[in-house]
Amino acid sequence: MNKSVTILLSALAVMISPSAGAQDAASGVQTLRGADAAATDQAPQEQRYLGKGPGSQNPITRTFSTQPPLIPHAVENFDVVTLQGNPCLACHGPENYKQIKAPKVADSHFKDRAGKTLSEVSPTRYQCTACHVPQADAKPLVDNTFRGDLRSAPKK
Ligand code: HEC
Ligand code: HEC
Repeated sequence: MNKSVTILLSALAVMISPSAGAQDAASGVQTLRGADAAATDQAPQEQRYLGKGPGSQNPITRTFSTQPPLIPHAVENFDVVTLQGNPCLACHGPENYKQIKAPKVADSHFKDRAGKTLSEVSPTRYQCTACHVPQADAKPLVDNTFRGDLRSAPKK
C-alpha cells in the first residue's frame, strides 16, 4: 500500500477507535469535580486572606513583566466597589496615594482601549480585583511546574 494512504488509514483508525476515551484515563487525566455529573458540588473550604492592614508589608516580587502585582495586604473590611466609590482608588488613586504612602495606580490604567490618555482611571480598570488578587495560603489544586521569568520582571 502507498505510504501516505497507510498513514491516513491509521489516523482514521485512531479517530474512530472506541478506546480513545479510555486513553485519557490511562494517561491519568481526571476531572477535578468528579465524574458523577449529578453529585452535589462540594463548596471549597473558605480561606482567610493573608496580610495585615495596608502600610505594613513589602511588595511581592513579580514573576513576569506584564503581571498585575499581587495584593500584599488584607482586603477585608474595605467597602465594596460601586459606581459611586472605589475603596482601592481611595488609597491608590492620584489624589491620595502620597499621603497614604501607597503605590500609585499604574499610568497604563489611565488609557482607554485605543491608547488615548484619560483624566481618570479607565472604566476597563475599575474592578481592580479582576486582575490584582489578595493572597491565601491555599494548596494548589493541581501540581504545576510554572517558573516565572524573573529576568523580565520589573525591579522593585
Ligand atoms: C488604606 C489604603 C489602601 C487601600 C484601601 C488599598 N490599598 Fe493596596 N496598598 C496600600 C499600601 C500602603 C500598599 C503598599 C504595601 C503595604 O504596605 O501593604 C499597597 C499595595 C498594593 C499593591 C501592590 C503594588 C505593587 O507594586 O506590588 C496592590 C496590587 C494593591 N495594593 C491593590 C489594592 C487593591 C486592588 C485594593 C482594593 C481591593 C487596595 N489595594 C486597597 C494601601 C491601600
Ligand atoms: C485589566 C487588569 C487590571 C485591572 C482591572 C487593574 N489593574 Fe492594576 N495593574 C495591572 C497590570 C498588568 C499592572 C502592571 C503593568 C502596568 O504597570 O501596567 C498593574 C499595575 C498596578 C499597580 C502598580 C503600579 C506601579 O507603578 O508599579 C497598582 C498600584 C495598581 N495596578 C493598582 C490598581 C487599582 C487600584 C486598580 C483598580 C482601580 C487596578 N490596578 C486595576 C492590571 C490591572
